[in-house]
Amino acid sequence: MRKGKVREHWASRFGLILAMAGNAIGLGNFLRFPVQAAANGGGAFMIPYFVALLFLGIPLMWVEWALGRLGGTKGHGTAPGMFEMIWKSRAAKYFGLLGIALPLCVVIYYTFIESWTLAFCFYSANGTLSQMANAHSFHDFFNGYLGGNGYTAAYVFFVLTVLANLVVMWRGVSGGIEKLARVAMPMLFIFAAILVVRTLTLGSPVPGHPERNVFNGLAFLWNPQFDRLSETKIWIAAAGQVFFTLSVGFGVISCYASYLRKSDDIALSGLSTVTLNETAEVVLGGSLAIPLAFAFLGAGAVTAIAGEGPFSLAFVTMPLIFKGMPFGQLLSTIWFTLLFFAGITSSVALAQAAIAFMEDEIGWSRQKAVGAISFVIFACGNLVMFGPGVLGEIDFWAGTIGIVIFALIEVILFIWIFGADKAWAEINAGADIKLPRIVYYVLKYITPIYLAALVVAWTAQDGISVALMKGVSAGEVPWRWGARLLIAVILGALIILIRRSRHLKKDEAHSHG
Ligand code: PHE
Repeated sequence: MRKGKVREHWASRFGLILAMAGNAIGLGNFLRFPVQAAANGGGAFMIPYFVALLFLGIPLMWVEWALGRLGGTKGHGTAPGMFEMIWKSRAAKYFGLLGIALPLCVVIYYTFIESWTLAFCFYSANGTLSQMANAHSFHDFFNGYLGGNGYTAAYVFFVLTVLANLVVMWRGVSGGIEKLARVAMPMLFIFAAILVVRTLTLGSPVPGHPERNVFNGLAFLWNPQFDRLSETKIWIAAAGQVFFTLSVGFGVISCYASYLRKSDDIALSGLSTVTLNETAEVVLGGSLAIPLAFAFLGAGAVTAIAGEGPFSLAFVTMPLIFKGMPFGQLLSTIWFTLLFFAGITSSVALAQAAIAFMEDEIGWSRQKAVGAISFVIFACGNLVMFGPGVLGEIDFWAGTIGIVIFALIEVILFIWIFGADKAWAEINAGADIKLPRIVYYVLKYITPIYLAALVVAWTAQDGISVALMKGVSAGEVPWRWGARLLIAVILGALIILIRRSRHLKKDEAHSHG
């Protein structure tokens, strides 16, 4: 960090917890979770999901909090600096590169999706959506919005979303992100609760179809299917969802944790973040889309949800459902506002890693860093907007496989290289709860083995066919190569910046020598 510059801190514990919750609670909770659960058999998905939560999600949450607080004490908000502190090797900072590259890649398409929620908020409020006749019209409208009728609307909402993010980030960690979370998180919980109450009191809303009711939807999610526990695919999907929803494996939790104070608690606060996120995901997220779809469209709707990708759920299925409900227009506006809040508190977290890197290691001012990163998001967002397949390609490399690899690197460095006992002491320093000793063994053995198994399984299951672009339509191939080139450029640029950083150790030694 630059000399004489005081590192920012969270203003209050409450604000910090809400900011971390805002980081974790996102589109993943309300869109990705129901789709993953539906696509993987509902009750068949939940056991692998909870196992992954216990043995991967929660331990990684503590690891990232501890790494982050440690890094922050020396002015490092991102993984290159943090890794150098725990591993005295010239390679350390290059391993840390992923902790900036992954969130930067993801934020590019995440912001784009977030902009759709803003648009649909607008179209709900002005009555456009409630005038649509049927599922077809919703489909057509959505496709029209995404280019079928020209790109103007999508472009305008995208620019507005980038600007909204810019404003929050410009104001900084406690002045922007924390303040936003203090407003957006409570609102999000209130809105979600309103929608859940409405959902659970629907009964069987379609006359003549008593079997179409919310309870069948809940049963689909909550009746365990033990006979499907042998399907690796479900275990992989469940682990992927746990990573995505908790924001672990990206380097962004540790970035937020770097704004802690040295004596701040990690054990309880990290656990609170998980609890809030899981409440939003399993209790609230799980009581909305799936039960609603069962109630209005019948059991067959689940296959539709599962088959069409995560976005159809929010932008086609849910508006269709609201159309059939009393006060539908209002409820639909609430739904999209909720999604927008969930989105923005996560996109600023994704972007913060790159911003912190520029500030801490390159010595830029926050304003300059925020301006530059917003420009990158906007410019690359164009590629995502216009290039078919680009979103999926970036999501696979950065949002799926990259995070598992990065999580494995984090755990090996922190637990095995830095040392399990030191790591354990670090997690427990300042703790407001006493963690059971079993967690130590989970961290030391189970989490890394679990991660390594996932890396292998993932590569075997999807990695090779995705790398070879099997089954990709000819039109998408050049775009998908473009996406890979973009990822390569981001990695290359970061390598150059890391090499030139005067604040990372090796070069510091030079300048002193
Ligand atoms: N956890 C967020 C969600 O559920 C996504 C996210 C991932 C945000 C990584 C920040 C970092 O949508």
